[in-house]
Amino acid sequence: MAQDALTGWDDDTTAESYAAFTRTFPMYSASSRDLASRAHLTDSHLIVDLCGGTGTTAEALLALAPPDARVVSLDNSAAMQRIGCHTLNDPRLSWVGAPAEDLAEHFPANSVDAVVCNSAIWKTDVPAVFAAVRRVLRPGGRFVFNVGGSFAGVTHPDGQTGPASPSLYSLVHHIAARDYGYTPPPPSGPPKLPLPAVTRHLAEAGLTLVDAEVTAQHTTTAERKAWLSIPVFARPDGHFSYEQQMEILKEAYAQTRGDEVAVTSWLVVVAQLDGGRA
Ligand SMILES: C[S@@+](CC[C@H](N)C(=O)[O-])C[C@H]1O[C@@H](n2cnc3c(N)ncnc32)[C@H](O)[C@@H]1O
Repeated sequence: MAQDALTGWDDDTTAESYAAFTRTFPMYSASSRDLASRAHLTDSHLIVDLCGGTGTTAEALLALAPPDARVVSLDNSAAMQRIGCHTLNDPRLSWVGAPAEDLAEHFPANSVDAVVCNSAIWKTDVPAVFAAVRRVLRPGGRFVFNVGGSFAGVTHPDGQTGPASPSLYSLVHHIAARDYGYTPPPPSGPPKLPLPAVTRHLAEAGLTLVDAEVTAQHTTTAERKAWLSIPVFARPDGHFSYEQQMEILKEAYAQTRGDEVAVTSWLVVVAQLDGGRA
């Protein structure tokens, strides 16, 4: 079963806010371009943008795909896809509203040249999705995705020395505790999707790990504030209204410098189905 509640994403306010964020800040377009460049799309005919949301990753794929290729963006949030349908009008792009776990119901076996998934794989039922990717990929086809650093348990060397001042995230929690009696959840257990687990799930699905790299994304505090303003990402979790979350965020942000840069780490994975042309 998918582990990210659909309710969080299938919401017009979140979808509009997410799309506005991706138009203004580079976080998702930059990571999408990075994944697209690793997918070796030069000779592709059919490319799947898995958990494609409003189409930011699809745009990056279209930029590198051959003129006669098709890109299909699959996501289970109708609200996210509605925005994508209105804003992207490349005739090579089409949309499928479905859970990632059902990918294999929408494409013939061994028909897809590349599956690319930006900023979402850990929200899915990973063994089910990997098995579905294995079924639809052609031999030699690539599966490229990333895992957020905290879910993968990785930190890029650039992120090992923390910023001089407290992070926006920790300030939010501090203010929520001070003003609302908020108790932060206990530290979470071991990372959900470290590289050994990724490698094992890939092998169990019949896919081969080609490359894994820890990358760094540099974001300003202003960008992080905008990201935390997207309803699905707003903090703290729990019984806070969005208005309260934004009030806390505003106060936290006032205690920072908007141009201070923090590092987010990612585990970027390239896998393939063995055989055929790479
Ligand atoms: C952070 S957004 C990333 C969207 C896009 N890849 C991008 O880079 O802009 C995460 C997306 O994953 C989708 N998602 C999460 N779990 C999913 C699942 N099990 N099946 C399909 N889509 C899912 C959400 O609906 C949301 O659109």
